[in-house]
Amino acid sequence: MKFFVDTANVDEIRELADAGLLDGVTTNPSLINKAGRDFIETITEICKFVDGPVSAEVAATDYETMMKEGEKLATIADNVCVKVPLTPAGLKVGKNLVDNGQAINVTLCFSAAQALLAAKIGATYISPFIGRLDDIGQEGMTLIREISDIYTAYPEIDTQVLAASIRGPQHVVQAALSGADVVTVPPKVLHQMFNHPLTDKGLEQFVADWQATGQSIL
Ligand code: E4P
Repeated sequence: MKFFVDTANVDEIRELADAGLLDGVTTNPSLINKAGRDFIETITEICKFVDGPVSAEVAATDYETMMKEGEKLATIADNVCVKVPLTPAGLKVGKNLVDNGQAINVTLCFSAAQALLAAKIGATYISPFIGRLDDIGQEGMTLIREISDIYTAYPEIDTQVLAASIRGPQHVVQAALSGADVVTVPPKVLHQMFNHPLTDKGLEQFVADWQATGQSIL
């Protein structure tokens, strides 16, 4: 399974890329706002040091403006993945971009029916939002399973399931078990994935026992 990081913070992305943990990046208007920097400049910078796809989202909601925004975002770098919302206008923009060979990520997916529409236009990625479904009392992970099962049943569908709105390490594990192709993880959650008390305890013991040997490897 591939790991994308869900942030527009360049320093955090660089740290994870240097650690060899990154296959790509996702951003959205809220994350751009949080990062507090110029959008185009930020995406341009990220695309230079991340090898994989970097999702950059259109901001308008009408077809004409979204189309122009999508075309502009697509010129930033070869690895830009244009993100469009799961609306009739968003999918129309997405279809045009796909027809021109542009990778797209269809965002704000909350149902399998919506995921079928994204697959129909040949989307590169569909982004079901797990955490936001959990937040309203629905089982977000069920949606990942449903979409994965449907896409697997139709080999002509190339769209990859990108599990989004991740709240913790268990979401990452469950998304993997549920057939997600990619999971986009906030940096904090990626760091939490390292944690296990038995790892800390075991390492402490190994360090103490090694010191007791009085030896040195180097
Ligand atoms: C995905 O591409 C979105 O940017 C993101 O995962 C949304 O997550 P949130 O629900 O934590 O805002």
